[in-house]
Amino acid sequence: MKHTHENERTNENRDESSYSRREVLKMAALAGSGIVVGMSGMASLFAINSSFKANGLVHPESEDTQPEEVNKDAIPFYGARQAGIGTPQQMYMYFAAFDMISEEVEKLKQILKIWTAYSADMTAGRGLRETNGQQQMNSVRESSISSSAKLTVTFGFGSTLFIRNGIDRFGLASQRPDELNDIPSMPGDSLNPQNSGGDICIQVCSNDPTVAFHVIRKLAAVSSGIAVLRWIQIGFIDGSDGQTPRNLFGFRDGTANIELASEKSKKNHVWVDSSKGPAWMANGTYLVARKVRMDMEKWEQTSLIKQEAIFGRLKNSGAPLGKQDEFDVVTMREIPRNSHVWLARSVGTKILRRSYSYFEGIAPMTGHLNAGLFFISFQQSVHTQFVPMLSLLAKFDALSPFLSTVSSSVFACPPGASEGGFIGEELFKG
Ligand code: HEM
Repeated sequence: MKHTHENERTNENRDESSYSRREVLKMAALAGSGIVVGMSGMASLFAINSSFKANGLVHPESEDTQPEEVNKDAIPFYGARQAGIGTPQQMYMYFAAFDMISEEVEKLKQILKIWTAYSADMTAGRGLRETNGQQQMNSVRESSISSSAKLTVTFGFGSTLFIRNGIDRFGLASQRPDELNDIPSMPGDSLNPQNSGGDICIQVCSNDPTVAFHVIRKLAAVSSGIAVLRWIQIGFIDGSDGQTPRNLFGFRDGTANIELASEKSKKNHVWVDSSKGPAWMANGTYLVARKVRMDMEKWEQTSLIKQEAIFGRLKNSGAPLGKQDEFDVVTMREIPRNSHVWLARSVGTKILRRSYSYFEGIAPMTGHLNAGLFFISFQQSVHTQFVPMLSLLAKFDALSPFLSTVSSSVFACPPGASEGGFIGEELFKG
């Protein structure tokens, strides 16, 4: 499955507000040093750039060098739709939520431009080196992101970016999609608000965990003075090549995503249609992230037959009960009515799941494993696709007694950016 670029916009679409990557990277140097100026202050940008040099920090783009060889088979950052949603799932994830500390819309635009430029460069394998005479380990990693890392960086906007405590900080309240309402409280919820929500989310995925680490570190560093990290979640999936990964309960997780493999079905279930919702969300999607703790000890005391009845699928092959192969069609009458698959299917809506397992040591009070699934799904509508499904599962799912949800967030992922543009640009045109 390759990332496609339908209706891909080109440089010809650049408008007067477009800017060169070089300009943005200069702005990033400023943001990183906690100094923020408007787009018009280019004279001072140049001045700061020379002080950047004087400090021994040299960004390759600030020299008159040719851009480095770009990874040919990297997953492209630019495109009509953001990567990291419909593109194949990588093995490692760093998911970060940021809160804006600046309340100026120009600074919001500025950080989105900076993040776009950095994400595009790092994804393409263009080096982002900081050298101060000696090669630093971190810098080496950043400057050598290879295409095999399959890096993607995906952005989303939370409800509070539009309106927080009744205050319209950025003049964006009228652009807030109704879909950004919180997920209603569910049985089994034990939410920590500090690990939920946030103004902006960034999902970084890669097959190389150190690449994902350095990319999120870099994106956080360049936002200094404009945004702060609110929470971060690290996740992994198993990497058996070409196979559906197994979750921590040992079952294949993601099998039914095959029903969303075609672009046509993603258009029907994942990508927001231009006729629905605010215009800036066309070709975007809504992201739900829920951190679900899984009771490993209780699960291990449950027999295999019972475990399989709980999911409605066989543990080894992943086949639906009564069938042979993982991708055989599910026959509803052959699986228990309170099984996870029966209930999820019975709602009749489809969502694209892209979840990651997590493990965070031992809970000090109980000695139990602090582990589970950082559930992520993408859908056209949270209210009509996700919430009905979750409501049914939370009440009746035979899996629910093994789960406890500790965080919940909803983000609106805007469409992809075109070269010369920036992520979320359409939001400011309304
Ligand atoms: C820790 C929590 C969860 C675990 C361990 C889990 C695990 C699984 C597994 C093993 C499957 C069967 C294989 C597959 O098609 O992927 C599955 C299917 C599915 N799950 Fe979950 N799941 C969890 C939470 C959720 C939540 C919160 C939702 C949405 C509200 C959800 C929605 C679905 C859907 C839609 C399917 C596909 C059903 C079908 O059409 O066959 N799951 N899940």
